[in-house]
Amino acid sequence: MSEGKNLVGVDIGSSSIKVCEIKEKRRGARELVRFGYHPLPPQTMVDGHIMNAGAIVEGLNRLFHKMRRRDIALRISGHSVIIKKITMPVMTVSELAEQINWEAEQHIPFDLADVQIDYQILCQHESRGQMDVLLVAAKKEEIGDLINLTIEAKLRTRIVDLDTFAVQNCYEIAYGAPPQESTVVLLHIGASLTTLNILAEGTTAFTRDVLSAGNAITEEIQRRLGISQEEAEAYKCGNAQGVVTNDVQQIIQESIENLTSEIQRSLDFYLATSGERDIHKIYVSGGTTKMQALHRALSARFGVEVIPLDPLLIAQPDPNKVDPLAFEGRIPQAVVAFGLALRKDRERAGS
Ligand SMILES: Nc1ncnc2c1ncn2[C@@H]1O[C@H](COP(=O)(O)OP(=O)(O)OP(=O)(O)O)[C@@H](O)[C@H]1O
Ligand SMILES: [Mg+2]
Repeated sequence: MSEGKNLVGVDIGSSSIKVCEIKEKRRGARELVRFGYHPLPPQTMVDGHIMNAGAIVEGLNRLFHKMRRRDIALRISGHSVIIKKITMPVMTVSELAEQINWEAEQHIPFDLADVQIDYQILCQHESRGQMDVLLVAAKKEEIGDLINLTIEAKLRTRIVDLDTFAVQNCYEIAYGAPPQESTVVLLHIGASLTTLNILAEGTTAFTRDVLSAGNAITEEIQRRLGISQEEAEAYKCGNAQGVVTNDVQQIIQESIENLTSEIQRSLDFYLATSGERDIHKIYVSGGTTKMQALHRALSARFGVEVIPLDPLLIAQPDPNKVDPLAFEGRIPQAVVAFGLALRKDRERAGS
């Protein structure tokens, strides 16, 4: 599975492109040898659709200027993907390969000709003769559009992956698989998308994308104060000139509460359908989790510890190759690219 050289992780998010490259050294040690960040103009990607291809290609060209290593692991947006956990009778890997399309037809509301199917056995329940399988269906057209942009930028996409799996990869390598008895929530909150991944009994129990994240907070400030997107963003990120009024703080607090309510709806759904009673820890990543007020809101609502997922436990930046100042403030945003950069070029494509 983990054969070959590390790929360069490329995360094209709706607000920026993040690139990470990790080098594996002897005895399993790793080093971050490249971090690149390129902001994208608003509306470059809307609801997972590419609206401004030129901005993405230009960003990739800049980030890969004079870079030799061009084999990449690419993040695709959860907007164009369906993930389902299904239960099937225990069978061999080759039997599963034969059966999976038939199963997918029952569970995926798209024409199978239009989607790329992938799957993974999560666990087997020997006593019941059943196994849990994670089924992933991604729309070919949307993946194709993004891959075409990487080809334009002279990159070779070797693997495509999703936020939820890239974050989980980072988490498991940084902290190890969660103990059987503990339920851990991985929350990745970016600009347009919040990805929730619940790990229970040591494996993925539930994953869901919530179509609300940092943009929703900016838009609320913009709408209520009648100001520009740039001004609202500056208020939100604490970069505004002058005094921030109580009004602004109130709006930010309310928007954070709305976002946490959305997250709670998904968690409540999982708790109600799984029979689990509690979650034990929440690990957070993504640009919006730089807001301490969000940590406080999550911790107050769920009554558990909220921990920033720390990719530095996996690899420390090489100070000669990565500008520590440029990287430090962006660590939560780098987590997906970090997870992608752990993938290898001789893995099974699409796994
Ligand atoms: N200091 C900060 N305080 C509050 N929010 C911040 C801060 N820094 C960045 N953000 C927000 O984080 C978001 C960007 O995070 P990130 O880079 O993870 O998103 P993305 O990957 O581009 O988007 P997505 O994956 O959702 O399409 C933006 O909404 C931005 O306003
Ligand atoms: Mg993102």
